[in-house]
Amino acid sequence: MEPASHGLRESATFDRATIHAIQRAAETGIYDIRGWGAKRKLPHFDDLLLLGASMSRYPLEGYRERCDTDVVLGTRHAKHPLRLATPVTIAGMSFGALSAQAKEALGRGASEVGTSTTTGDGGMTPEERGHSKHLVYQYLPSRYGMNPDDLRAADAIEVVLGQGAKPGGGGMLLGQKITERVAGMRTLPVGIDQRSACRHPDWTGPDDLAIKILELREITDWEKPVYVKVGATRTYYDVKLAVHAGADVVVVDGMQGGTAATQDVFIEHVGIPTLAALPQAVQALQELGVHREVQLIVSGGIRSGADMAKALALGADAVAIGTAALIALGDNHPKYDAEYRELGSAAGYFDDYQDGRDPAGISTQDEELAARLDPAEAGRRLANFLRVMTMEAQTLARACGKAHLLHLEPEDLVALTIESAAMARVPLAGTNWIPGEGL
Ligand SMILES: Cc1cc2nc3c(=O)[nH]c(=O)nc-3n(C[C@H](O)[C@H](O)[C@H](O)COP(=O)(O)O)c2cc1C
Repeated sequence: MEPASHGLRESATFDRATIHAIQRAAETGIYDIRGWGAKRKLPHFDDLLLLGASMSRYPLEGYRERCDTDVVLGTRHAKHPLRLATPVTIAGMSFGALSAQAKEALGRGASEVGTSTTTGDGGMTPEERGHSKHLVYQYLPSRYGMNPDDLRAADAIEVVLGQGAKPGGGGMLLGQKITERVAGMRTLPVGIDQRSACRHPDWTGPDDLAIKILELREITDWEKPVYVKVGATRTYYDVKLAVHAGADVVVVDGMQGGTAATQDVFIEHVGIPTLAALPQAVQALQELGVHREVQLIVSGGIRSGADMAKALALGADAVAIGTAALIALGDNHPKYDAEYRELGSAAGYFDDYQDGRDPAGISTQDEELAARLDPAEAGRRLANFLRVMTMEAQTLARACGKAHLLHLEPEDLVALTIESAAMARVPLAGTNWIPGEGL
């Protein structure tokens, strides 16, 4: 019988999860490390609605009229910008955090639908390069696995300054995932916990970033787009500084963004929601007169074509997905429920990416577990998911009368709550009121 039916009341302040966290800390004396993104409820794209056309607007016919989805990233300076068939990309996730099979599957899935995938902390694997039509190479503070030849082998470069899950913090990879291969690529010892730096070793400010971007362009003969990725905090200023430093593309990752491993307290308490960051980024680009010339990729909690359509309507050129891509590969699948339970978790709750014991073979370096993931099959699942996302977004865009996903605009949106209206800077549904406007 449920405690509530006995008249027992759960405290909103000391709820069961809080009590468990205190008990866990008291027993172990160490803070909680986990993967995944923020689990608290935050203002998000679900708090926005699209205004389909009726009389004052003219919808497009679903099965007869086109709604294009292509996007070009890196048009500002690069000789070879990335031409993607759909504005949803796969975010950077490290080999080390993920198995080589999972990285290959991400490349296969993304390539099948004509979009890009991204390396991560720890470098580029041949499987990933071989199966990715468009591969973005991350240049990270840790420099783990950094190799100038791989920079040249990539199709674009992403300078990572931060992540939404942990802006201001570095990465973590626990010893159980540091196999010989992972250690070899990072030139670090096997089996020892690794912490990645939170800032670039040669970086003290935006002027250094400008020099760094120039160096990267020189090494790659000005061919490749250079992205700058920031975790969402002071987004308006960060985007302006990234543009001044020469970025072709700015990537803004909101606080819902996933991670392979970091402190729970960090994931839940640092950064701002994706919904709050996106309009700040667009405002910064518009004020500099480069909106759409410097493209904006937004990530952090993107789960569906609806999220994508709303992000594009707010002014993003593309979205990136991490957690949703892993779920599409097979992460948290019910068929592993019994095994998740043996690990003290359950299908739908599994966030212990740091432990390396993932029964789905995704966030692991254990050879037997990793071999469970068939990269071809998992890649197909991801491709299906990306297709569904794209078709969902097209359906919504057509209903708003748009012949291209990138024609969606803030005018197509209203908000359900005062918070989301203020953050997204669109009117509260049924009113003309945008909280804070004109202040
Ligand atoms: C398993 C995992 C590993 C990640 N590794 C990296 C990384 O190496 N570099 C990086 O910039 N971001 C990393 N991220 C963050 C993603 O690039 C992205 O910002 C985030 O997952 C987007 O949010 P979403 O998961 O809600 O889609 C990782 C995320 C996950 C889930």
